Amino acid sequence: MQQQIKVWDPLVRIFHWGTAAAFAVAYLTEDDWLSLHTLAGYLVLAAVITRVLWGFIGTRHARFTDFVRGPSSVLGYVRDILHGHPKRHLGHNPAGGAMVVALLILMVLTSLSGLALYGGAELAGPLRELMAGAPPFWLEALEEGHELLANLTLLLVLLHVGGVILASLQHRENLVRAMFTGIKTRGSE
Ligand code: HEM
Repeated sequence: MQQQIKVWDPLVRIFHWGTAAAFAVAYLTEDDWLSLHTLAGYLVLAAVITRVLWGFIGTRHARFTDFVRGPSSVLGYVRDILHGHPKRHLGHNPAGGAMVVALLILMVLTSLSGLALYGGAELAGPLRELMAGAPPFWLEALEEGHELLANLTLLLVLLHVGGVILASLQHRENLVRAMFTGIKTRGSE
């Protein structure tokens, strides 16, 4: 009988689907629903800070040491994917791990630029005193930057979902279900 193993702990799963929902809400409400937009942005930032701390003290496959690899491992793994024979990993594979780090960094930058913009343009939020009196061209640049970062995050999310689908097909396992249940089957890794 194949052995079932718990890979993703509850914090990782709640973080994942919570972040996915909060990012979607923030992205879709950018113009018309500022209070909902900022609430969703705060949630993304709080979730990412929690996840980063968990990356140091969390369960085995949640830790950065379990899945953050150097550029040569990541590139080697991408080559294996393209050749159709990537090694299976129970946690994140090296390319998935690089994507996790990139997503975390972009989500922090997007939220912080949003907080700064909120402080400068709306005189609200924790950065309002720091940003009060910022010249208009700064605020315009910040607005452009915030939008660019949000769009880059969306681009990475699309690549991320594409990667998840590809890996699910190549290893004949349902990775999306595993991110809900936390469980994978021990096999050829
Ligand atoms: C329908 C959309 C999505 C699906 C189906 C999906 C699916 C998944 C799956 C299956 C994993 C685990 C990959 C593995 O087995 O190595 C994962 C991890 C991850 N995903 Fe997504 N994802 C989605 C949307 C998002 C969004 C919108 C974000 C962020 C804005 C995101 C950020 C992440 C992060 C940071 C991880 C790492 C989780 C951790 O280690 O804590 N995902 N995703």
